[in-house]
Amino acid sequence: MAQKTQTFETRIDLSEKTRTAMVKLLNQQLADTFDLYSQIKQSHWNVKGMDFMQLHELFDDLAESVLEYADMIAERATALGGSAMGTVRMAAENSTLPEMPAKTVEGKEVVAVLSDRMAAYGKSTRSAIDAAGDAKDEGTADLFTEVSRGVDKHLYFLEAHLQA
Ligand SMILES: [Fe+2]
Repeated sequence: MAQKTQTFETRIDLSEKTRTAMVKLLNQQLADTFDLYSQIKQSHWNVKGMDFMQLHELFDDLAESVLEYADMIAERATALGGSAMGTVRMAAENSTLPEMPAKTVEGKEVVAVLSDRMAAYGKSTRSAIDAAGDAKDEGTADLFTEVSRGVDKHLYFLEAHLQA
């Protein structure tokens, strides 16, 4: 995280140290989440091939779900007295995901590229569950657990196209 976020007083019974660490973790995941969302929409718009329509619709379903995660993650950061770092520029600056290759449009290739990014996001989300659990912030750990379960399903939906 390049930018230092503003913090606020709150009556919540988690220590400032824990909250600061969790807000940082949440904003890191928010950056990846927004980046992933934009890459899925990019794929929704640009995919080509005989499977166009079903991939176009699948990608929109995935994007909608990932956008919900962004909202949950951002609002957890603010609930903990932090600020959400949620603009496109903030996400671009802080995301750990590789960029979507602009010329990849063939259905199966797009699914493979998105699977790589969904898997990377799933991995960082699982690490975030552990980090929140270690910090004894079970609310944040539970939030990331919910995201993780969804991401595992999204990866399955993508990879099923590549497994036969
Ligand atoms: Fe659309």
